[in-house]
Amino acid sequence: MLIKKPADIRPSEITSESNYLDRRQFIGAGSIAGASLLAGPALGAIVPEGDRAQLPDVRKSPFSTSEKPNSYEDITTYNNYYEFGTGKGDPFRNAQDFEARPWSVTVDGHAAKTGTFDFDDFIKPFDLEERIYRMRCVEAWSMVIPWVGISLADVVRHHQPTSKAKYVAFETLHDPKRMPGQRRRVLDWPYREGLTIAEATNPLTILAVGVYGEAMPNQNGAPIRLVVPWKYGFKGIKGIVRISFTEKRPQVSWNISAPHEYGFYANVNPEVDHPRWSQASERRIGSGLFAARIPTQMFNGYGDQVAHLYDGLDLRKNY
Ligand code: MTE
Repeated sequence: MLIKKPADIRPSEITSESNYLDRRQFIGAGSIAGASLLAGPALGAIVPEGDRAQLPDVRKSPFSTSEKPNSYEDITTYNNYYEFGTGKGDPFRNAQDFEARPWSVTVDGHAAKTGTFDFDDFIKPFDLEERIYRMRCVEAWSMVIPWVGISLADVVRHHQPTSKAKYVAFETLHDPKRMPGQRRRVLDWPYREGLTIAEATNPLTILAVGVYGEAMPNQNGAPIRLVVPWKYGFKGIKGIVRISFTEKRPQVSWNISAPHEYGFYANVNPEVDHPRWSQASERRIGSGLFAARIPTQMFNGYGDQVAHLYDGLDLRKNY
């Protein structure tokens, strides 16, 4: 990606973490009193508003890895979210004041149940599950993240796609006033992503609404983002406002921007290098600068669940 390599990140880019920790302690101390205030208009909402709000009734998923999750700090201070800047520390710094409410999600295209839904109504029919997933970024770093989310297969079924729906396309909010990174044309905004309907309905695919049992931090894509753990991280579109059932394969942001480097499928594949670097191994964030790189696994280790989706497809051509 046309961004800084992890090794280029200056410590100064993330020094605001100490302020952040102070803020967290402050919020933690006030959370019981604060919860009712923060809840305000969203009283009774499934995903409450406000920082560090605990999500209710989260059940554990059998799809979780037993690997140790990265710390909350790793997950929320080392991000890619170009709508808030291209540096790894930028989303943490620039997204703190972003208001992810009110929020609505439009479902359109080839489906019986389309419309624009308030975020809470959109997720209300579905169970919240904790899914601890290995996440592999195309830049050859990785993390283990305890997402909280809803099954995208359930969401797809609920909206009753017709037989014409072959793909599911996603779009991020486009609002340069609230997303300062959109004032520069680093990408063709809004950020767009897509999956085949089979990928979208695979049991591993989720729409995530939180991490570590708490509402999604802004920098990770509040209030709702896609998580597809066998694909490179850029498929995991954040701040989703539109989900479209399409007949034709949708245009997706990184493929539009650099088609020779980023394909539509973006499956994690240690055997197919990025034109500018190897994909054979990865650096686990938080393991220390001198920690050994770990070998990258085909489909990020999720081959048993997803390899069949690509039977007969040449994965060198369909990267
Ligand atoms: N979604 C939007 N809207 N904008 C982005 O810039 N970056 C992608 C993806 N989703 C991005 C996005 C990339 S490159 C990665 S690696 C993941 O978000 C990072 O997710 P995380 O910061 O929660 O780890």
